[in-house]
Amino acid sequence: MKKTGFIFDLDGVIVDTAKYHYLAWRKLANELGFEFTQEQNEQFKGVSRKRCLEILLEIGDIKASQEQFNKWLVEKNEDYLSLIEKMDESEILPDVLKVLQFLKNHSMPIALGSASKNARPILEKVKLMDYFDVIVDGTHVAKAKPDPEVFLIAAKQLGVPPEDCVVFEDAVAGIEAANNAGMLSIGIGEEKVLSEAKFVFTNFTEMDDNFLNRLLE
Ligand code: G6P
Ligand code: MG
Repeated sequence: MKKTGFIFDLDGVIVDTAKYHYLAWRKLANELGFEFTQEQNEQFKGVSRKRCLEILLEIGDIKASQEQFNKWLVEKNEDYLSLIEKMDESEILPDVLKVLQFLKNHSMPIALGSASKNARPILEKVKLMDYFDVIVDGTHVAKAKPDPEVFLIAAKQLGVPPEDCVVFEDAVAGIEAANNAGMLSIGIGEEKVLSEAKFVFTNFTEMDDNFLNRLLE
């Protein structure tokens, strides 16, 4: 497939931070007097912090002033940061290192393309910074996935045309963004959820060298 640029989402692809995002949002929902389920949390994957809060307030049927809204945004992030404070390399998802190392061994450029404003500190905590040639995160983008902006900026910074890029994503919005960017989308998760992806793997353990070689040839 002759791919020459590789872009990874962070949350749910490299590390399982989705569970910490969920716990922080659920705490806020409970404080506001309603339940927030794991199923509802699916819609939050790949979606910006601000948009997540808008959806949460819609679920709870809660109206907020701008000031209150901003206060809850800060509160959720503080709770999230305290949940990830002690994160280390042990939280890297299975065989992520195998794939990153395979790409490094083949001198392939690697980018991060995440909606999270906490991406850099997380990569530092799990000691993966050195693998990434380019980092595009929530502090660099104006338009959220499924808009392709985050991946197009990453491709540009890698110096690789979008059609030669591969995106690894766990979110429906992220797969859509990759497809909208004209890139090869690889879903990490459930086939029935990520049906728009070109290929889907439950996790990186299922992605063998044979498949990785095919991406490069
Ligand atoms: C990722 C996660 C989302 C999260 C977003 C913003 O895309 O999948 O669930 O809301 O990042 O994260 P942040 O760390 O900036 O709150
Ligand atoms: Mg994700």
